[in-house]
Amino acid sequence: MKYNFTLDYFQKSADYILSKIDEKPEIALILGSALGGLSEEIENPVVIDYKDIPNFLVSTVKSHAGKLIIGKLHGKTVVCMSGRFHYYEGYDFEQLVIPIRVFKLIGCKATILTNAAGAINTDFNVGDIMIIKDHIKLMGASPLRGPNVEELGPRFFDVTDMYTKELRELAKNCAAKLDMKLQEGVYYYHMGPNFETPAEIRAMRTLGADAVGMSTVTEALTAAHCGMKLLGLSLMTNMAAGVLDQPVDGDEVSETGERVAKDFRALLAEIVKAL
Ligand code: HPA
Repeated sequence: MKYNFTLDYFQKSADYILSKIDEKPEIALILGSALGGLSEEIENPVVIDYKDIPNFLVSTVKSHAGKLIIGKLHGKTVVCMSGRFHYYEGYDFEQLVIPIRVFKLIGCKATILTNAAGAINTDFNVGDIMIIKDHIKLMGASPLRGPNVEELGPRFFDVTDMYTKELRELAKNCAAKLDMKLQEGVYYYHMGPNFETPAEIRAMRTLGADAVGMSTVTEALTAAHCGMKLLGLSLMTNMAAGVLDQPVDGDEVSETGERVAKDFRALLAEIVKAL
């Protein structure tokens, strides 16, 4: 067995972070590609490089910053992960539990996950934001594989309400206040780093997916295991492969992210306020 994590392993990271801050964060924010800008709004931030945190992971993606930012956002103390970890970078699924478990141990009660995704549902448009209602992950190991850390949660755990209904309703109310339209749907986890084939997208649509992306589900499963409330938001940065008669373009993903970032930030701000 490659990993034999115990509570102590995660506690070591948590203790380091707690030694750097005065107030424990209540909300964890993990922001996807091009959506990291929100972290600039955090007041009196304490910034910690991932590489300085014992037992943490180090980010390898260019567009991800690799820093924890802790401070006040709209009256709430938050920890914001600017730059997340993905399976396609070379980590094992089992390693991807680390951030959420550490956030649990420093006091977070709720997690907000955002990501860039390709739209599978042809009623969606590029630029739409989708509340994740549920996900499909049929491939690859569970991040919870291996010895269970009993102090954090049970061996076998329920994921029926993983994307907490209460937070989905709260997000809808916040969007209504801003006069924003949100989609709601099912996120399909694709391991990447290649985008999908058109045949894979057709298969995912048949299985009931509305959007596809390469992140979020490992964090969601970890949050469900340790009993954290969870909200997932996907930005449709492009139509998924084969929906349009054109290739999927990584530049379009970043450009859409930048174009919609302002609205996305406004929505997140409203949600944080309301939490
Ligand atoms: N597929 C997978 N991940 C993505 C996509 C996509 O089309 N767009 C943004 N992230």
